[in-house]
Amino acid sequence: MVEQILASHSILVKIFLGLLIAGLLIPMLTSKDPLSFKKFSFIYTMFFQAIITMIAFTGLIAMVMGEFGFTLSIIIMIVVWAVLMYIEIRKYRLIKMAKIQNEDTHKLLNGAFLKISAVQILLVAIMVLLMVLKVKGVISL
Ligand code: HEM
Repeated sequence: MVEQILASHSILVKIFLGLLIAGLLIPMLTSKDPLSFKKFSFIYTMFFQAIITMIAFTGLIAMVMGEFGFTLSIIIMIVVWAVLMYIEIRKYRLIKMAKIQNEDTHKLLNGAFLKISAVQILLVAIMVLLMVLKVKGVISL
């Protein structure tokens, strides 16, 4: 049972990474259309928050059922999770509140979206790498 939940956790992390990478297309494809940028940012943040919530849910269930306790790797995952969620909420609030039809504002937020996504992708990739190294016994967390 714990194995199945962990497998779901792992698949969700990969789907999440796919979403982050696909999300890079939003600022790229809407660089000339501020209203579409705002609309797709909203749809994107909904999927982002839904998947990341499922990641936390499966992770917490696995933690409790597998009686892992708060190991260093789990503490790192929880911190990474909180940072990802915090950045995303701040980013979307900025886009939502902005006068997006102003060309400079749109340009600024377009660039910020790309940079923030790059940071989020890096964080998830590092986390996955750390867990792979842990499972292979290269590092002990
Ligand atoms: C509330 C947040 C989270 C909790 C409670 C949680 C919990 C767990 C637990 C209990 C395990 C198995 C224990 C272990 O191998 O040490 C695990 C594995 C893993 N977690 Fe998380 N996690 C959380 C968030 C995340 C996030 C945000 C990521 C990615 C950015 C992530 C990536 C992974 C990976 C790659 C594994 C290895 C899966 C495998 O062995 O196939 N977790 N997590």
